[in-house]
Amino acid sequence: MTEQLDAGGRLRHLLSLDGLDAACLTRLLDRAEGYCARPGRPAPRTRQLADRTIVNLFFENSTRTRASFELAARRLGAEVLNLNLDTSSAQKGESLLDTFYTLQAMNVDGFVVRHAEAGIPARLAEQALPHEAIINAGEGSDNHPTQGLLDVLTIRQHKPRLEELTVAIVGDIRHSRVASSAARALHTLGVGELRLAAPVTLLPDPAHLPGRHLTDIEAALDGADVIMMLRIQKERMRASDIPDDAAYHAQWGLTEERLRHAAPDALVMHPGPMNRGVEIADAVADGPQSVIREQVNNGVAVRMAVLAELLEHRKP
Ligand code: NCD
Repeated sequence: MTEQLDAGGRLRHLLSLDGLDAACLTRLLDRAEGYCARPGRPAPRTRQLADRTIVNLFFENSTRTRASFELAARRLGAEVLNLNLDTSSAQKGESLLDTFYTLQAMNVDGFVVRHAEAGIPARLAEQALPHEAIINAGEGSDNHPTQGLLDVLTIRQHKPRLEELTVAIVGDIRHSRVASSAARALHTLGVGELRLAAPVTLLPDPAHLPGRHLTDIEAALDGADVIMMLRIQKERMRASDIPDDAAYHAQWGLTEERLRHAAPDALVMHPGPMNRGVEIADAVADGPQSVIREQVNNGVAVRMAVLAELLEHRKP
């Protein structure tokens, strides 16, 4: 994997939570805490990146992650350029590297990259100049590091003693970069027990992720302190492998009744976009245990922390 740390151990790019130690993760989380918007208060704003340019280079559709990165960059005072390459020069056959070199020539400092193919952020990192940072905003089924961080931040705010927690991640784990980044971060930070639960065809390769694999939702929820629900990543599956929505809900949906298997104060999480009535029932998504909107709020803070950490000390 391309080096995301410099010779001094400082974060240079954010490609994956794999390989980041507990101290590095904790530093980013602590920093994010300082950028969290408090209820009823204006969102924090600084001028830390006032002379920097950040591009959102999205080769895959996104609403919340792109908006979240854009607000994060703007709230640090940076100039932001949004490129949705689904509908741009990629379709005219320009290579990814040519697009990157073009943006480099326009003095972009931070490249926030989302791509359906794994390995693209690392490839760009190999081409980056010393003052430039690459931030992975989701690659294939592999990594979504800022999502993993915001998930852990949300858990930590409610239940700071991670070593005492049982966390259940439930749904299409095999195709989920959210599950893989969250599982790695939780493991590194010493979570008490990590359960990964899915229909057998949607479980990951056992060597791929830490955690106990389960194929029964009730067993996964039993006494759990945190439940992270995932949608079926239909865009990463063959049509014939996609389960029927109603059948999936009946067997795997998080309903109020099933939630009773978990600890009474269990947190309910979901990275979005949610498929209501499929992996999660309305009453649970909007219920008192749901912290789904807090995750979104924390997403901006985490991205501010990452952008500041990567760019504030580096100048062309
Ligand atoms: C996720 C993603 O894009 O990987 N969404 C997100 O970033 N909040 C999950 C998903 O698409 O289901």
